[in-house]
Amino acid sequence: MTNQRPLTIAIPKGRVAKALSPLLERAGLGTKNLLADDRRLIRMSDAEDIRFLLLKPDDVPTYVEYGVADLGISGRDVLLERAYDLYQPLDLGVGKCKMVVAGPEGAVIGDRPRVATKFSRIATEHFARKGVQAEVIYVGGSVELSPLVGLSDVIVDIVESGATLRENNLHVMEEICDISSVLVANRSLYKLRHAEVAPLVARLARGVEEGAI
Ligand code: PRP
Repeated sequence: MTNQRPLTIAIPKGRVAKALSPLLERAGLGTKNLLADDRRLIRMSDAEDIRFLLLKPDDVPTYVEYGVADLGISGRDVLLERAYDLYQPLDLGVGKCKMVVAGPEGAVIGDRPRVATKFSRIATEHFARKGVQAEVIYVGGSVELSPLVGLSDVIVDIVESGATLRENNLHVMEEICDISSVLVANRSLYKLRHAEVAPLVARLARGVEEGAI
């Protein structure tokens, strides 16, 4: 089955796809089709040799793990939050941001803080490492709202420019880890289709190097 379909990369759609475009271009994967403003979820590279699947960021690892995509581009936050069995051959160095604990001015982290987050596992493990048993409350988005209205004491979330925290009068209290986009690969397909996949990974690695110059 796998040899009948073109090499396939699962890509997070929207702003991440736009941010990835210069890197994909440097790797020789033309992105005119990829960035076209329409609703198609399957698109070919401009040279028609690589197929892109456009997905919600959280779904990328699933498509790769099940082998319907050979490669995927996923945020490290998504990979840390759930345990996937994926090979991670390359950090793409784009989409750089930080996972942090943030709260209102003067907030203190007591014995049993209430923590709102979409990243329950990352938050639970972070506080457990510090010997703090946090009450973690799952919220799916706009998490900055929760300490403002008393749902939680603090939040665990991603900070990129810092604008969302600033505009909601929240401050970084602790940094948990750096986040960036990572290339992930299906372990079996990486071996089975090595002759095709390895050169593509090498092209992406060169694209990362050229971008860093
Ligand atoms: C993400 C994140 C923060 C914001 C950080 O939210 O959860 O809210 O971006 O970016 P900044 O530091 O540049 O302001 P996203 O826009 O993905 O939406 P969400 O709130 O629905 O998760």
